[in-house]
Amino acid sequence: MFGKAYLIASGLLALALSAFSAPALADGKTLVNDYCTACHAENDTGGLARISEVRKTPEGWDMTIFRMEHLHGLELDGDERQAIIKYLAAENGLAPSEAAPFRYVLEQRAHFVDSAVNDDLDALCGRCHTNARYGLQRRTETDWLKHMHFHIGQFPSLEYQARSRDRHWWKEVTTTTYKELAKLYPFQTAAWDVWKAAKPTNPVGEWRVTGHRPGTGDYEGTLRISRDGDQYSAVYDLRGMDGKKLSGDSKAIIYTGYEWRGSGVLNGIDTREVYALSEDGNRMTGRWYQADHYDIGGEFQAVRMDGAEAQVLLKSSDFIRAGQHKKITLYGTNLTGKVKADKGLDLKIIDQNSTTVTLDIGADKNITPGSYHVAVGQAETTLIVYDKIDRIRIVPDWTIARVGGGNTPPVTAQFEAVAYMKGDVKIGIMPAKWQAANFNEDAEQMKDVEFAGHIDQNGRFMPAGAGPNKARKYATNNAGNLSIIATITEDGRAISGKAQLIVTVQRWNTPPIR
Ligand code: HEC
Ligand code: HEC
Repeated sequence: MFGKAYLIASGLLALALSAFSAPALADGKTLVNDYCTACHAENDTGGLARISEVRKTPEGWDMTIFRMEHLHGLELDGDERQAIIKYLAAENGLAPSEAAPFRYVLEQRAHFVDSAVNDDLDALCGRCHTNARYGLQRRTETDWLKHMHFHIGQFPSLEYQARSRDRHWWKEVTTTTYKELAKLYPFQTAAWDVWKAAKPTNPVGEWRVTGHRPGTGDYEGTLRISRDGDQYSAVYDLRGMDGKKLSGDSKAIIYTGYEWRGSGVLNGIDTREVYALSEDGNRMTGRWYQADHYDIGGEFQAVRMDGAEAQVLLKSSDFIRAGQHKKITLYGTNLTGKVKADKGLDLKIIDQNSTTVTLDIGADKNITPGSYHVAVGQAETTLIVYDKIDRIRIVPDWTIARVGGGNTPPVTAQFEAVAYMKGDVKIGIMPAKWQAANFNEDAEQMKDVEFAGHIDQNGRFMPAGAGPNKARKYATNNAGNLSIIATITEDGRAISGKAQLIVTVQRWNTPPIR
């Protein structure tokens, strides 16, 4: 039931497009009073029971409202729902510093390591959902206790499910864990008090953008943000390092004064944006991804142009080999100063303006390999000069992909080959030859490499279709346990790195916070 229903709930981003089209929508506060007080009575502090005792991200509020609708019979139309979430995220949200450690889950990253502050919480809570799910909430001590009650009430089989039999869950969470949660994630914090009282920042204006698309490469350009009623409009003018254009636009809502949630189109592909504005409003970071493929997208960083300091935000390459010449472009803001480099690097300016400096750089043949400074006025950056590749590390060094089919597209896995020189000094990402192999003897026997999918020469693994496969032993599905191998050839010498990939089954339940 949840799988299908969450498709509706995750409209938090998609709704950005349609929200506020109806003129006579009551404000969030009135809507909460109209719709929630039927079940949530006023409490002693003048707020509403439960509602005023918790703080969450917009996605967290989205999920709770979803439960109110689907389990408790609350009925809202799309615009009302949107207005209520916006209001609650503003009144009872998280400060930027509170959400910071868990952004990976909001950004819908396909690969992340979610860890609890200790093993007990990992076993008590992390066994069913991410630890980020509660890390992104703040509650009073009594509300954390009520939340434990909610869990056992909602999922009575919780104590004797698989992976739950090692302890008395109920006893533990209602005697000690809820107090621990109240200490770790308290309702009242200085960070939130300060943030709530702060004047909202205004993102309208011109931004300098840099980013990275795993498997595709870096990109740079500009973003213009304007206000559009209660929302914001963004127009992107970006370019990959190969010169290919990446352009489009989006509409976004800013929740809690900093949580940018956008819905747009880049090069004709529907995208979603999960960014966070910095507290001073001069920087915006996060990730955008394809609406139908959360695993495919880009790292995103934007810096306000207006009054920006001199800084290098991206380089067309991070490294150069000793004895070689290379054209390297620096991208940033306010790059009008004098260009200088450490001894051993020979510089020629090909082109320079305030956002881009293109250099012809030569590294002396006898230079000591290592990190070298390049400066443009006050802006400093470093280039790695290497003599020879020592080893290749694949990033990530292990991950999962999911078979796909029907309404649930496959989840791909993206790998990159990062070269290192002696002394474990990182050189940078390099193109490599990609290959998959069976991870171990069991995989060999099941011929996983033949069935689980294939890896392309950009390091993206595309899993095979879901469902039983008659061509396989036991007619099993196309899951598999694979080694992913990247090989770089330098001076006729092949250097390889290895990662592990588990190709597993589909995930049916994809709530906004996993
Ligand atoms: C028809 C009754 C009903 C209505 C209407 C209702 N709720 Fe609830 N709400 C409940 C019940 C029952 C619970 C406790 C069980 C649970 O958490 O699902 C609850 C729990 C909650 C909680 C605590 C859950 C948590 O874990 O954080 C919040 C917050 C909440 N509701 C918000 C709202 C908001 C906001 C509205 C109005 C937009 C609303 N509710 C409308 C019945 C309702
Ligand atoms: C048996 C599996 C299971 C365990 C164990 C579990 N949870 Fe959950 N939890 C769920 C499910 C399922 C939901 C989603 C409920 C919904 O929104 O319908 C949930 C929801 C939540 C939410 C979001 C609810 C909201 O409305 O805001 C929080 C926070 C949370 N859990 C915290 C915890 C903590 C803390 C622990 C450990 C003490 C824990 N969970 C242990 C299954 C589990």
